Amino acid sequence: MINIAIDGPAGAGKSTIAKAVAKRLGIIYLDTGAMYRSVAYYVLKHGVSVSDEKGVQGILGGLVMDIRYEDGAQQIYVCGENVTPYLREPHMSKAASDVSALPAVRYKMVELQREFAASHDVVLDGRDIGTFVLPEANCKFYMTASPEERAERRHKELVEKGGACTLQEVLDDINKRDYNDSHRAVAPLRQADDAVYIDTTDMTPEEVTELVVRTVSEKRK
Ligand code: DC
Repeated sequence: MINIAIDGPAGAGKSTIAKAVAKRLGIIYLDTGAMYRSVAYYVLKHGVSVSDEKGVQGILGGLVMDIRYEDGAQQIYVCGENVTPYLREPHMSKAASDVSALPAVRYKMVELQREFAASHDVVLDGRDIGTFVLPEANCKFYMTASPEERAERRHKELVEKGGACTLQEVLDDINKRDYNDSHRAVAPLRQADDAVYIDTTDMTPEEVTELVVRTVSEKRK
């Protein structure tokens, strides 16, 4: 079984690279951030605050998450509804970061991620894959870039999708999420000791993909 873990902060390019690497290797890509975004969607839909630990715990038992692949793209169904189209809306990023700090949410998602990785060859991207979800993963990467570069990438992406936020707003959001994600009590964002560190600030996606694929094939020899 191949399990490739790609961790790092928001906007580091993890999902672009994870998708490209999965395609090159003919394996599946699991976007674990989308799982936390789906929990945020479910919680908000129930009118519960994403930081209300008791309230979230009260409704978590009813959350049924089903991850499917349709035409090669990951789709997340929550209690039978495909929530994928709503997950990248700007307010969902902060909501996902907040809800992901709740231990009950993390344990539920981590269990699903471990089950998934045990039965599929998969590239997973997230914050805690190499340190907490799959400490035994064969190949681990920690991908980052300067906050300014990450904000510029996210801003470009949002503007292309018709969003109307400023670069400064995106940078503020990235800084807030970096702080949240790396200071929470359970499984905070940090580099695993055996992860390969990649600073993508001055690299093209093709260069990063090539580096990851080459490293994976060397490790598998
Ligand atoms: O990768 P993303 O921006 O879609 O992730 C959204 C939020 O989910 C992120 O701010 C922190 C959380 N997350 C997490 O805590 N652990 C993961 N493995 C993936 C995401």
